[in-house]
Amino acid sequence: MKLLVTGGAGYVGSVCAAHLLDAGHEVVVLDDLSTGHRDAVPDGATFVEGELGATAGEVLGTGGFDGVLHFAARSLVGESVEHPEKYWAGNVVASFRLLEAVRENAVPRLVFSSTAATYGEPEQVPIPETAPTRPTNPYGASKLAIDHMLTSYANAHGLAATSLRYFNVAGAHVGGTRRLGERHAVETHLIPIVLQVAAGTRDSVSIYGDDWPTPDGSCVRDYIHVDDLADAHLLALEKAVPGRHAVFNLGSGQGFSVREVVEACRAVTGHPIPAVVAPRRAGDPAVLVASSAEATARLGWTPSRTDLHRIVADAWEFAGDR
Ligand code: UFG
Repeated sequence: MKLLVTGGAGYVGSVCAAHLLDAGHEVVVLDDLSTGHRDAVPDGATFVEGELGATAGEVLGTGGFDGVLHFAARSLVGESVEHPEKYWAGNVVASFRLLEAVRENAVPRLVFSSTAATYGEPEQVPIPETAPTRPTNPYGASKLAIDHMLTSYANAHGLAATSLRYFNVAGAHVGGTRRLGERHAVETHLIPIVLQVAAGTRDSVSIYGDDWPTPDGSCVRDYIHVDDLADAHLLALEKAVPGRHAVFNLGSGQGFSVREVVEACRAVTGHPIPAVVAPRRAGDPAVLVASSAEATARLGWTPSRTDLHRIVADAWEFAGDR
């Protein structure tokens, strides 16, 4: 298939682009490099530098596209609370322009990077796709708005649309010839932060709260290897049905606490990794774990890289390359 990958210079987008190329697809990456990196665009992909809303029409107008994988987005929860305008413009308005370009050029399918943040504080864990969507920040709200847009475009215009709601994406793509991973200018994610301590660029890691209602008092999350996530995108492309908007949660179905993650990083790196307890971070739910039963049943997807040590080891190998 000929595919447009928006945000293909970013973490998840670049790894998915690599998987698509390996599977024999033709890939055009569109990225404004605001948070992505030119050298993360895998060899073999055509690269177009441009802002999504302004450029998508031009790119899709060149014709022949069989689908779009839409990763380009702003994705920092804290920033979205302070600057919601960036999320309505960068996520919702830009995605609307992309969808209009998809419609005008009769592109048949689209796979969208949605998020567990669309659910907000869960009533039920593991979280099924039928759980209420009550995002607690503008980031989650902006992604949910795009999910709603996709439902309406599928119903009205026959688009085959799939939203993949990611839980905590982690690890790196280190097998094969390409090495791709997480490189954020401002790092807020737990595993890369802990590995910065092991690498000596940070003194200690803060554990945001040790009084949560969890077995060891720290927050529990569902860490999914970025290569498993990429596998789900390829299956979603294959299984997309015209006129339907499908929504799938993607996690490994098991929860690890912040303390367990720090312990795994100690075991993998051999570094003592000092950890200090800090106040809770605003907006953090205590436990987020996915039910991925739907993705298994309907996409035939089963994550295979679920061992936390493996996830951390791949992220560590990638960090060592930088
Ligand atoms: N944490 C710490 N110390 C740190 C950083 C994080 O204790 O220095 C804790 C957080 O409080 C949280 C856990 O580690 O309990 C994971 O935090 P991350 O920032 O790595 O990830 P989040 O769970 O906050 O959010 C991620 C994505 C969101 C997505 C969400 C869904 O960034 O986009 O997963 O699960 F919506």
